Amino acid sequence: MRIIDTKFAEFRAEHVDETLELTAQAGWTNFMDNLLMLLDLGCGYVATMNNHLVGSICMTFFGEVATIGLLVVDEKMRRQGIGGQLMRLALEKAGEPECRLIATSDGKPLYLKLGFDRLEAVHTHRGVIPCMEAQHGAEWATRDDLEQISDIDRRATGLDRRTLISTLWNKGLVAVIRHAGKVVGYAAILRYGSVEVAGPVIACDTYQARRLLCLLFSQRLGALTRVVLRQQSGLAEWLNSIGIAEVSTATAMCRGEAHADTEPPFRTYVLASSQFGFP
Ligand SMILES: CC(C)(COP(=O)(O)OP(=O)(O)OC[C@H]1O[C@@H](n2cnc3c(N)ncnc32)[C@H](O)[C@@H]1OP(=O)(O)O)[C@@H](O)C(=O)NCCC(=O)NCCS
Repeated sequence: MRIIDTKFAEFRAEHVDETLELTAQAGWTNFMDNLLMLLDLGCGYVATMNNHLVGSICMTFFGEVATIGLLVVDEKMRRQGIGGQLMRLALEKAGEPECRLIATSDGKPLYLKLGFDRLEAVHTHRGVIPCMEAQHGAEWATRDDLEQISDIDRRATGLDRRTLISTLWNKGLVAVIRHAGKVVGYAAILRYGSVEVAGPVIACDTYQARRLLCLLFSQRLGALTRVVLRQQSGLAEWLNSIGIAEVSTATAMCRGEAHADTEPPFRTYVLASSQFGFP
């Protein structure tokens, strides 16, 4: 088979099942609900050969920044240009804006070839949530907090992620920290099949970030969780000590002119799942 035998089309709901077979090959825990959520927030493309799906890509747009959330090619069909062609379609769709992603070691050579630069390493922790008491200071968000949450999220990431935040609110749990009545930090946890993904965590310091995670964890005792930490989050040692240990690292990468300015003191400590880019 050659790349010229491959057809490319828009990713639709009917492609989800076969995409899940490819993500299982790659060892990823993706589930139908999550892929539908990703498509709902963005769009994607698929590659087919003889009516079989051999590759998929999904992307989301957060204001002026595009993020690539999923790229996978059938393991029997790799190194034939399919991944590269899917990336070119996504970059064409993105147009001028800055594009960000979290690269696995498999994906990194391709992204470097397409002009992406390395930003920083990110660290995935995984483990079962132990018995944990909520610490003073963090509380559950209310619907009225969503505007302030979106505002501090934008100031920490430079991205307009209102659509993502409303999904986290509708499908997951969201905690906040307030100071003088204003939201100064927030965190969310969302189920991805058998795994609870904790993130994003946006806060002014590591202590706030930890208090937010403690509140989320206190409601998910015994659940398998995944937490993707930014470099210098200050949370790695604590997570390792409670059995949510580092299992892998990946690379945050970016292409194009940086549009996204961040405003201290708000900072991302934990990413919102690698599918939603960086930070
Ligand atoms: C990453 C992935 C999608 C690449 O798909 P692919 O169809 O093999 O990519 P391409 O054939 O278009 O590769 C394009 C170029 O990228 C580079 N490249 C791709 N895979 C590479 C590898 N394993 N080692 C070195 N370079 C590689 C090469 O420069 C290649 O060009 P070449 O074959 O002419 O040397 C595929 O390996 C995959 O599905 N991996 C598992 C899932 C994953 O990790 N996805 C990335 C998530 S961030």
